[in-house]
Amino acid sequence: MTPPFRLGIAGLGTVGTGVLEIIQQDAALLSRKTCRDIYISAVSARARHKDRGVSLSNFDWEENPIDLASRPDIDVFIELIGGTKGVSKEAVETALISGKDVITANKAMLAIHGIELAELAEKNGCCIRYEAAVAGGIPVIKALQEGLIGNRISRVMGVMNGTCNYILTRMEKANMSYKEAFAEADALGFLEADPNLDIGGIDAGHKLAILSAIAFGCPPNFNTINLEGIDQVTIEDIKAAADMGFKIKLLGVSQKTTRGLEQRMQPCLVPALSSLGQLEGGTNMVVIEGDSVEQIILRGPGAGKGPTASAVVSDICDLARGWKIPTFGLPVKNLSPIENSLSDLPASYYLRMLLLDESGTLAKITGVLSDHSISIDRMRQYSHDDKTAPVLIVTHKTTRNAIDEAVTEMTENKLTSQPPVAFRIEDL
Ligand code: HSE
Repeated sequence: MTPPFRLGIAGLGTVGTGVLEIIQQDAALLSRKTCRDIYISAVSARARHKDRGVSLSNFDWEENPIDLASRPDIDVFIELIGGTKGVSKEAVETALISGKDVITANKAMLAIHGIELAELAEKNGCCIRYEAAVAGGIPVIKALQEGLIGNRISRVMGVMNGTCNYILTRMEKANMSYKEAFAEADALGFLEADPNLDIGGIDAGHKLAILSAIAFGCPPNFNTINLEGIDQVTIEDIKAAADMGFKIKLLGVSQKTTRGLEQRMQPCLVPALSSLGQLEGGTNMVVIEGDSVEQIILRGPGAGKGPTASAVVSDICDLARGWKIPTFGLPVKNLSPIENSLSDLPASYYLRMLLLDESGTLAKITGVLSDHSISIDRMRQYSHDDKTAPVLIVTHKTTRNAIDEAVTEMTENKLTSQPPVAFRIEDL
C-alpha cells in the first residue's frame, strides 16, 4: 500500500474539530476509498487544553502554526485559523515554500491574496485546495473545476451566506424587524465575530470572487464586486415584495457580458416560486449556467461543523489520491484578467415609496420615471390613514443609472416623504 498521507492541522475550532472527528471515526473507510491511511501527525491551536470533545493525545502539538507548516512529517498543511493576513497567511506561505500542499477554508485570504498564493504554490510544485471556503458542504468548487469543465460558463449566482438568508427568512416568516431577526441570529451564534462580514455581504462577496475566478478563468477580484448588505432591507420591503410575488435574497451574481465581468452581491428580488425564492433559513444555493449543461442548481448547508468538515475531508482525499489541480483551475499564466463591467445589465426594478398624498404627486412620479425612459410594468397603491401614500412600482427593464437618477430627482423634488427604496429584480 502507498505510504500514509500525513496531515498537519492548524486551528481546532468548530471546523477543525469536525475534521478530527471524521478522520478518527472513519479512518478505515477513508483508507479503503483512497487506498492510503490518512494520518494526523500534528495539530496546532490557540488553547491546548480546551475541552473539544475529541482527544488530541495521538498527535504532536505545535504551539506555532508556522512551525507546524514546515514539519518534515506532514504532506499537507490544513489551515483552519482564518484571517486574511498574519499567522494564517504566513503559515500557508511557509507550507508552500516547504513543498507542502495546502487545504484551507479561508475564503477571505483566497479572495484577496489568491493570485499571490497560487503563484507561490506553482513555483513550489504544490497545490491549494479550498472546497470548504465556498458554500460549506456544497461541493461547488469541484462542480465548477471538474464536473463542468466542458462548459463555457455564462453565469454563476446564488445565496452564499446562510446567516443573511436566515435573517431575511425570519423577518418574513415571523414578521420580525431587521433588528429583531439580527438579534436572534446573534443569540444562536450564527454571526461571524465581525457581524459586518455577514450582513455587509463581505463574506458572500469573498465566495463570489472565488467562484468568478474559476468560472471565468480570471484572477479573483474582490474589489470590483458591487457590494451591498442586507441592513437596508425592512419588513415593509419584505411584505411589499411578497405582495408582488417576490422574495428578497442577498444574491450574488457573476456574469460575463460584452462590457466585461459583472459581479454583484446585493439584496435582490427573485420570484417567490423559484428555487432561489423558496430557499429558507441558513441553507445556501448556487446556480451555475453553462453552454452545454444549461443550468444546474446545488443546494445544501453553507456552514456548520459537519458540512464544512465534509468539504475539507473531500480535499484531503483528493490529495491523498494524488489529484492535483491548479488553484483556480488554470495555471496562473493562463488566467486572463477581465475588465470590470462599469454598468450592470438592464433589469426590472422594484421601487417602494411613500408619496406625499397631494393632488398631482403620482403624475409627477410617473413623469420623473418617463423622463428617465423608465417604463412601468405594475403599480400598486395601498390604503393609508396619514399624509403619505405607500406606492409600489415594478418597472420594465432599465438601467441602474436611470433608477438612481430618478430616485435622486424624486427625493430632491420632495415628492416622497423619504428616499424611495430600489431593488433589482433578478432574471432567473
Ligand atoms: N458566516 C457564513 C454564513 C458561514 O453565514 O454563511 C461561513 O462562510
